[in-house]
Amino acid sequence: MEFFRSILITGGAGFIGSNFVRYIFGRRPECRITVLDALTYAGNLENLAGILDDPRVKFIKGSICDAEAVRAAFEGCDAVFNFAAETHVDRSIQEAGSFIQTDVYGTYTLLREAQARGVERFVQISTDEVYGSSAGESFVVRSPLEPGNPYSASKCGGDLMCRAFHNTYGTPVVVTRSSNNFGPWQHVEKFIPLFVTNTLEGKDLPLYGDGMHRRDWLYVEDHCSALELVALEGRTGEVYNIASGESRPNLEVAGIILDSLGAPRSRIVFIEDRKGHDRVYAMDASKLEALGWKPRHDFAESLERTVAWYRDNRGWWERVKSGAFRDYYERHYREKLKKGTIHGS
Ligand code: NAD
Ligand code: DAU
Repeated sequence: MEFFRSILITGGAGFIGSNFVRYIFGRRPECRITVLDALTYAGNLENLAGILDDPRVKFIKGSICDAEAVRAAFEGCDAVFNFAAETHVDRSIQEAGSFIQTDVYGTYTLLREAQARGVERFVQISTDEVYGSSAGESFVVRSPLEPGNPYSASKCGGDLMCRAFHNTYGTPVVVTRSSNNFGPWQHVEKFIPLFVTNTLEGKDLPLYGDGMHRRDWLYVEDHCSALELVALEGRTGEVYNIASGESRPNLEVAGIILDSLGAPRSRIVFIEDRKGHDRVYAMDASKLEALGWKPRHDFAESLERTVAWYRDNRGWWERVKSGAFRDYYERHYREKLKKGTIHGS
């Protein structure tokens, strides 16, 4: 099926957004791409190295909350993929205002412009966290939304605003809810990059609680292929879950990372749990699979490739880990690590 001639990718300097820019750039040579990104602490132009100079790609620094910047970014675009968000649960527990601003109000600002322009498609990148923690069931798109932390509540706001715009004005929205992504260019504040880079630096790995919280791990390229498909084949006004079925407890993932870098389990330190920590995320992705999608990347192989990427791209993450992140790490982990329990002791 023919892809769009010109798309807007918000949050395209972040982890999944930049992977999606590369994915579309490589697969859709006829498509022009505009990236709108505020370059918050999580945005990084290095994630788009080698792409930004191409005449098919235009970068605009600006916020999705700023109607003027949004108007300029929409110019000539047929479809929008909204990745822009505040995304880290721990930071939302410390301060939720910026999450509500970007994830709810920013989404509303984009929807308003999309509606005024009559774009062909608005893809909202939402999350499995909107369902809250699973007690054994796999959530389907009609399951109740029971977010358990300020990040997921904010994402719910954006997700539901999309529903409201479709219902009220007929805006051609599709919402996707994805499980935990991993892969290259993920910010080091997140579990897998933090644990890989801490191992490479000879530091401890701060594991929350008993380490038995489970996540469904999706390789980022499989997320990109799902988004491309949903944009083309998904039904307007519908929601699609995106999950790999590769559910693992955090302790097991930490063990795999240590093994692959030849480091001992004693590097794991069990620390005070995250407040309101969702125990398990689990979704049924059969509605998406019925469109013809399936994840193509094996978990163990992809995790190994991801570990190798961080090992081979030390300059990238050392720059991310310096400066403001160092202060964040000290504030968030220092005392907890002192009081923690070393694995096996
Ligand atoms: P990220 O934190 O790596 O990137 C977010 C990007 O958005 C950054 O480039 C940042 O500069 C930009 N941004 C933040 N506020 C902005 C604003 N007001 N205006 C414009 N740009 C702004 O996030 P990610 O992990 O790549 O997640 C991307 C999207 O996917 C988010 O919407 C997130 O909720 C969703 N999601 C992520 C995962 C995951 O596992 N990472 C899973 C499901 C859904
Ligand atoms: O499920 C999708 C969501 O996945 C996305 O919507 C979010 O944007 C994304 O950040 C991610 O949220 P999580 O909270 O699941 O991801 P995080 O990488 O922060 O943590 C993964 C698991 O690892 C979680 O159970 C908490 C645990 N953890 C995390 C960190 C940062 C630790 O044990 N120690 C840590 O230091």
